[in-house]
Amino acid sequence: MNSFELNKILGAILGTCLILLALNIGAGAIFAPEKPSKPGFNIAVKEQAEGEKGGAAKEPEQPIEALLAKASVEKGQATAKQCQACHTFEKGGPNRVGPNLWNIVNRPRASEAGFNYSAGMKSKGGNWSFDELNKFLANPRGYIPGTAMTFAGLSRAEQRADVIDYLHTLADSPVALPKAAEGTPPAGGEPAKK
Ligand code: HEC
Repeated sequence: MNSFELNKILGAILGTCLILLALNIGAGAIFAPEKPSKPGFNIAVKEQAEGEKGGAAKEPEQPIEALLAKASVEKGQATAKQCQACHTFEKGGPNRVGPNLWNIVNRPRASEAGFNYSAGMKSKGGNWSFDELNKFLANPRGYIPGTAMTFAGLSRAEQRADVIDYLHTLADSPVALPKAAEGTPPAGGEPAKK
């Protein structure tokens, strides 16, 4: 074959390559592929840490001390309306379905005179500390198996802190709120109470 023919063949190959290149660029422009910002596959599974934080608050995870520092007595009083179906809060108030809750913070468990506590509540022993109230109110029957308190519990930790903040005012001389755990600056840790 002479050089003219060779030129034609080479030209044809080059031409094909150019067309392929042009098609490739054109196709890329039309069907712009979505490039992931990170190489790899996107696996659509909720991250565990997130689920734990926002999920069912069966186990209280935040220390009550820190939450109490931000709690509101007024909000707690409003939430405590739910308890009034079964409890009275005033000093000397009667026992209803549940015992009177005056002076409940640090009161010995199952100690309200004239109230017939469940065996589960009586056998638990100890006092109602802030922390124990928090755990109990999160999940009454989970914390004290066999309790007669058929209340589902308050799932939001902030809500429990508000209620406990309110409960702690129900005393002739309310005990001091627990100090927030280390890490929170002591100054201004306790907001002014109304
Ligand atoms: C459906 C009725 C009902 C509701 C609603 C209810 N409780 Fe109770 N609660 C009870 C009963 C009954 C007991 C006694 C439990 C036992 O003996 O096991 C009890 C016991 C308690 C105790 C322990 C008292 C003690 O003397 O040892 C606390 C604290 C308490 N409730 C707080 C609350 C709070 C706070 C709320 C509202 C957020 C609430 N309860 C809502 C029925 C209720």
